[in-house]
This record gives sequence, C-alpha cells and structure tokens, in this order.
Amino acid sequence: MLQQTGVGVAITGSGSAIPSVSLDNQGLTQLVETSDDWIATRTGIRQRRLAGEESLSAIATLAAQRAIAMAGIAPEDLDLIILATSTADDLFGSASSIQFQLGASRAVAFDLTAACSGFVFGLVTASQFIRTGVYQNVLLIGADILSRWVDWSDRGTCVLFGDGAGAIVMQASERDRLLGFELRSDGTQHQSLSLAYTAQPKELVPGINVQAGTYHPITMNGKEVYRFAVQKVPEVLEKAMFRASISIEQIDWLLLHQANQRILDAVAQRLKIPTEKVISNLANYGNTSAASIPLALDEAVREGKIKPGDIIASSGFGAGLTWGAAIFQWGR
Ligand code: UT7
Repeated sequence: MLQQTGVGVAITGSGSAIPSVSLDNQGLTQLVETSDDWIATRTGIRQRRLAGEESLSAIATLAAQRAIAMAGIAPEDLDLIILATSTADDLFGSASSIQFQLGASRAVAFDLTAACSGFVFGLVTASQFIRTGVYQNVLLIGADILSRWVDWSDRGTCVLFGDGAGAIVMQASERDRLLGFELRSDGTQHQSLSLAYTAQPKELVPGINVQAGTYHPITMNGKEVYRFAVQKVPEVLEKAMFRASISIEQIDWLLLHQANQRILDAVAQRLKIPTEKVISNLANYGNTSAASIPLALDEAVREGKIKPGDIIASSGFGAGLTWGAAIFQWGR
C-alpha cells in the first residue's frame, strides 16, 4: 500500500571496498604482449585490483556497511537492497546473501544486470520506489568481479578491467535531489561487448536435448564501444540536464563510468566541462563495471572534493548496449 506520494530522493551515504591484491601494468606484460606505456597512453590505467580471495558478496557487503554508517541508519532500517552486478557469486542473484550478511532483515533484495550502466539504471530504479512512497530507505550497490570472466590471453580486453564495489544509501526526502535522468538501450549492438552463454546440447533421453553449456570470457569490439561512448554519452547527459533544467555551468562534477581516460576527456571536451570538474580514479582501478561510479563517488566524497549540495552529472555506458545519465545533488 502506498504510504505517501510526491516524495523526493536524497543520497545520504556512500561506501566502497576493493580487493587487497593489485596488479600494475608491468605485471600484465608477463601475460600478454603489452607495455605500461601503451596501456597508460591509450587508457589512463596504471593498475587494477583483483579479487583473488574475496567473493562478490563480501566486497559488496563491506561497501554497503560503510555507506550505511555514513548515512547514519541501521541495516534494519533498509526497505530495499538493489545489487547492480554482472558477476554475482550465484546466478540466481547475490543480493539476498548481502541482505543476510548485513542483517537487513526487513529489506527485500534483488540483483539488477545492466553491465557498466548498472549503477545508473539502479539509481533510477531505486528512486521510483522512493518517489511512489513505497520505500523510504534503499541501499544501492554496484559491484563487479570481471576478472572472473576476462580472457587473460586477450590484450585487447584484459588490460582494461578491475574488481571493486561501491554503494550508496538513498532516502525519502522533502527536497528531491535526483534532478533528472535518461536511460537508453540499443540491442542491435549487442555483439559489440558480451559475456555470452554458449550452449552445448546434451541428449537427456532419446530425442530430448538440454543445453549443458557455459559462459565464455568477455569479447569486445573496442573501437565500436569507444565510438558509441563518445557519441552517446554527451547526448544522454544533455538530455538528462535538459530534464533537470540544469545548464552545463551549474554542473560541479562530471562523474562518468571509469572506462578509459580518453573517453572521459572526449566527453568533457564535447560538453565544454573543464578538466578540473572531471572525477577520475581509473588509473588505480581500471574499469570496474557497475562499481566504477559509486567507487569514484565515494572516494571524492571522503576526500572532501564533493560537498553537500554539489550537482553531479553522472553517466554509465556499456554492454547491451546500454547507457544512461542521472543528474543529482549530493547529500540530504
Ligand atoms: O565499459 C565499457 C567497456 N569498454 C570500453 O570502454 C572500451 C572502449 N574502447 C577502448 O577503450 C579502446 O578501443 C581500447 C583501449 C580497447 C583500444 O584502444 P584503441 O586506441 O582503439 O586501440 P586499437 O584497438 O585500435 O589498437 C591499436 C593497436 C593495434 O595494433 P595494430 O593493429 O595497429 O598493429 C592493437 O593490436 O594496438 C594494439 N593493441 C595493443 N598493444 C599493446 C591492442 N591492445 C594492446 C595492448 N598492448 N594491450
């Protein structure tokens, strides 16, 4: 039953967690023919964290605990947990296991899969539950361990990805801090980036087959994805800013999915957003998929860069292809 309507959304806490093991570009030269110089120049990445020991739910839970602590609420206050991931520990979903580990006994929990757009898609999904008055306290986690699915012999992809988790707490608020959004999908370009299931027919009984296949490592047409990102991300940001009635000059921070420094620079240049307003931490973590935006957000908040009331233009983009933008103000 709806409790109230016309409620706003505020983002009141953030947290993040990264695996302890790091691999720098030099380390990758032991695996594939590459160099620190090539990776740094073409992508901006210098090192990445790899989850050798940690599970997806373990790093996601840690990020969540930190976000909950910053928001000043208890796990039992949570009504909903959304886990944006493409690399759940369990294909049935890992959100419920996180709910248990947090002790968020009242919360309903589910996974949401939209690859590197997962965090932005999750932010918008969560805000619908809050705006309709159904839920007051929502935990949104973006977490991925893509190292599980990287082809470590493919230099075109293995140098890009890293593992991590980020989380935010979203709460019902009198003032609506989610100012505008726009989400998009284009399935015609599905093949450009995938982690696909390949079926292997197995005859169960004569004449009846099942598919006893497996998922295969990530494949990507890097050039296509690059072109898509530098064209579509500025467009979707402009649309979201229009919906928010916000001009470029009012944006305090550009917070993009951390895929490639050249993409960040090209989008900022196209939108005429000065470099000092662009948040970037991919040198340390690479592309952490659904985790990259909340991880960079949390670092910037804890460094005191992002302050309450700051207007953030965020955009996620990736497999699907999917892309989206959300314009929001940090804090209560
Ligand atoms: O979440 C979204 C996920 N994906 C992305 O955001 C990826 C978007 N795409 C990109 O970031 C870029 O396309 C890459 C970083 C993947 C590649 O950069 P590029 O400037 O498009 O390079 P390229 O694929 O055109 O390759 C240029 C050259 C090629 O050699 P030749 O054919 O010119 O002799 C590649 O074989 O660089 C070679 N190359 C490498 N060399 C050293 C490709 N990967 C590597 C490597 N080290 N790791």
